[in-house]
Parts: sequence; structure tokens; C-alpha cells
Amino acid sequence: MLTIVGPGGFGKTRLALQVAADLRAEYNGAVLMLTFAGVENGEAALSAMATALAVPLHGAAPLISRVVAALDAAPILLLLDNLEHLVGEALLVELLSTLVRNAPHVRLLVASREQLRLSGERVFDLGGLGLPTATDSRLSDAMLLFLDRAQRLDSDFALTAQNQAAVAQLCRLLEGSPLAIELAAAWVSTLSPPRSSPRSGAASIFLCSPTRYARTAPLHARGLRAFLATAIAR
Ligand SMILES: Nc1ncnc2c1ncn2[C@@H]1O[C@H](COP(=O)(O)OP(=O)(O)OP(=O)(O)O)[C@@H](O)[C@H]1O
Ligand SMILES: [Mg+2]
Repeated sequence: MLTIVGPGGFGKTRLALQVAADLRAEYNGAVLMLTFAGVENGEAALSAMATALAVPLHGAAPLISRVVAALDAAPILLLLDNLEHLVGEALLVELLSTLVRNAPHVRLLVASREQLRLSGERVFDLGGLGLPTATDSRLSDAMLLFLDRAQRLDSDFALTAQNQAAVAQLCRLLEGSPLAIELAAAWVSTLSPPRSSPRSGAASIFLCSPTRYARTAPLHARGLRAFLATAIAR
């Protein structure tokens, strides 16, 4: 059992899906993904798993043992997503612990903001994307994601001498969170050209497309923190 742990938006689901795609052939296509985002407690989680496996909810043997038997019939990779709000739920703990101990055919890959703290669980701590440093002039992973997402929305967008430092600062401020960077990059297309509003003007200093705004954008430096303070205060 391996649990990918990290804050929301850091790419746990994306990584789990990539791992599943890479291992699909090894499991003869037997990969099952279940997401528990809207599942309220351990009982509901067990029922959801039984339903996904076409195991009847009522039967002679306990539901847990029938679910375990159904899963362990042949090699299977089981992806369980968004378990963070169910950590410590007794039925889920019992199910997963039984799978770890007594179901040799079942491999568990979990994505969760919190580790489950089960015996046999290994944890992969997913950090943010690589951040720009003062000494490395290559574009960091965080900057590359910003650039890619911005260009999807505005093909004119480019990193320039005017905006690169601000984008780097933004990536650092967002701690390399892919989701946050994607959302920030979306401003590139939604920001209108600078008007008299200090909010849009300051934002465009950092995120504008140089070709679109080159003649109108005032490129004197206003700190990102100042921009955010203005934005938050409004
Ligand atoms: N390494 C990456 N490169 C590019 N985009 C990424 C990367 N990691 C994540 N993303 C993007 O960031 C967004 C958030 O990723 P994802 O949904 O996997 O996060 P999560 O950790 O599962 O969040 P949650 O805890 O809310 O479930 C998605 O749009 C995803 O495509
Ligand atoms: Mg997720």
C-alpha cells in the first residue's frame, strides 16, 4: 500500500492516474479507481466499494470479507482517491488493513491529503513543483507550467525581461502548487488591458502578454505583494 500525500491541488490524483496508466498492462487491465470525495463515513465507503465490485450489500458473510474476496480473486491495482476525510473511520481501517495483510493479489494506491497511518502503509510525500532560484537561470518546472497554461489561453504570452521576475515570485508565493499556478495563469486571458484601475494595472504588469499590452502597460515595478494587498483589500 502506497499513499500519495500532499496538499489540495498538488497533483496527487494526476500522479495516481499516471501510475495506473503505466501499470495497466502489468495488471492485465485490472485497475479500479474509486473516488471518495463525497462519501461521508467508513460504512458508506465500504458500501461504495461493494457496489463498484457488484458485491451484494447483504449476504451470509460480513460485507468486508466478501469485498476482500471479490478484490483478491486475481491481481488488481486499486486506486483510492480523496480518503483524507475518512482517516480513522473504523470500517475503512479494517477493510484496508485486511487487504494489506490478507489479500496478496491486491495492490493499493491511495491519494489523500493526510496519510492513513495504517500498518504496512508507505507514504510518498508529493511536494510542489520545482521553484525558481536566484542562481539557476533555467526555467523551473513551476515557471514552465505557468508559461504552458498561459500560452494555452493566450498564444501571445511570453516570459520577458519585464514579467519574468514577477512570475517567478508568483510561483514561489504559490509554493509550486500546480493548481494555484494554473489558476494564476488563467488571469493572462481574463485580465483586460490596463485601465485606470490600480488593480488591473498592477496585475497586468505581472501577467500581461507583452505583445498585447506592450504600448499601453506601464512596466514600472510594483511589488507583487503590493498588488495582492490591493486585490485582497478590495
Ligand atoms: N506535475 C504537474 N504538471 C502539470 N500540471 C499538474 C501537475 N500536477 C498537477 N497538475 C494539475 O494541477 C491540478 C490539480 O491536480 P490534482 O487534481 O491531481 O490535485 P490533487 O492533489 O489531487 O488535489 P485534491 O487534494 O484537491 O484532490 C490539475 O489540473 C492537474 O492537471
Ligand atoms: Mg485529487
